Amino acid sequence: MAKKLWGGRFGKPTDPLVEEFTKSIQYDYKLALYDAMGSMVHVKILKEAGYLTVGEASRLTKGLEAICRDIRQGAFAPDAASEDIHTDIQNKLEKKAGSAALKLHTARSRNDQVAFSTKLYCQFAILELKGDISKLTAALSGAGKKNSGVIIPGFTHMQHAQPVKLSVYLGAYVEMLNRDASRLDYIVKNLNIAMGAGAVSGTPIDAGIYKKFRVGPISNPPDTVSDRDFVIEILSALSLVGMHLSRLSEDLIIWSTKEFGFIDIDDSFSTGSSLMPQKKNPDVLELIRGYTGRLYGNLVSALTMMKGLPLAYNRDMQLDKEPLFDSFEIVSAELKVLEGLIKTLKFNRAKIEEHLKDESLYATDLVYYLVDKNVPFKEAHAAVGRLVKYSADNAIDIKEMPENFLKRFSGKFVRREVIKLFDPVVSVKSKRSFRR
Ligand code: ARG
Repeated sequence: MAKKLWGGRFGKPTDPLVEEFTKSIQYDYKLALYDAMGSMVHVKILKEAGYLTVGEASRLTKGLEAICRDIRQGAFAPDAASEDIHTDIQNKLEKKAGSAALKLHTARSRNDQVAFSTKLYCQFAILELKGDISKLTAALSGAGKKNSGVIIPGFTHMQHAQPVKLSVYLGAYVEMLNRDASRLDYIVKNLNIAMGAGAVSGTPIDAGIYKKFRVGPISNPPDTVSDRDFVIEILSALSLVGMHLSRLSEDLIIWSTKEFGFIDIDDSFSTGSSLMPQKKNPDVLELIRGYTGRLYGNLVSALTMMKGLPLAYNRDMQLDKEPLFDSFEIVSAELKVLEGLIKTLKFNRAKIEEHLKDESLYATDLVYYLVDKNVPFKEAHAAVGRLVKYSADNAIDIKEMPENFLKRFSGKFVRREVIKLFDPVVSVKSKRSFRR
């Protein structure tokens, strides 16, 4: 059994079931680097406050540096018997720095350490994730540019609506992801990574010292140790990223069907079927869609875990780590795999052009045409509606109708003008309300 950070007031050893039930080392080892970084600052604070001699501080710093090096090089092995990562690093430091390590816990509590290291972890994780987001937005914009001449049917209610440039459709996802990135920026700005709360009431060290080392001063100790709104904000922001990626995945899944045939997902980003040799499946995209449930679940789990907690720290809060790590890991993997999938995606222009022949896509353009000839919008809408219905009911293309026939729906129709409207480029160019 590993050494604990407590035990003096207990007459009996902890039951093994309790040890097992309460420990968090199996997941909070991911905080190792951030806990060690926090301890390095704490050493400086203790030295400044007169709790550590120069020699002690230097032994502790050297020990912590060695621990950080191990973590960075992947050589750090958390002891599975430790209660949590904070205990584990303390135990390792005692081996490296000897008795000086026994002073390290002066004026701090694990509650303080947990909050500090979790926030620091979040800061780094968000920075990394933002890199992944911008790589994906670059891939989406790149696909739009590479296919800049491609126009697709735009959909509303999953029905053919109006022609839209492919780059504009993909650009919609770039906009969503850019908003996601700025949400994460806002969260980082408000993280307030600070020390000096102690267990709940502060520490005897002057606020000015925390300020000097840029980890304070805090304004409220119980809030500092028990605030987890940052976790919930992050889980919420990550749920939104997941939701956006799920929508993108769904669009791509639909586009890859034989029925649509807009895209070909590269073989290296597709999977097969054990039974049906012809199958090429979009499993990557389906899993991204599927993981969204887990991202939402992680958010709801943290929200629910927090809702009934009195001030200040309660052990329930330990349970914020798994959802937090899980959501970061899911979203980061999704962004990376989607970037690769988008970069290798092929658009089938011929198949898309087939879809663009659907005359109903240009019905709104016919309405605008009549409106430009001074027909009130509602009248124009009704006239084109009748025309489209007639065309569908009788299987006659509008483009094939003679002029006098067209005039039965509106006297303003001039055939040679009307037939020019059934052109995706003309349709797209006529929409001028947004910046390109
Ligand atoms: N592993 C725990 C956590 O993550 C450490 C905090 C324990 N604090 C306490 N006062 N018992 O929350």
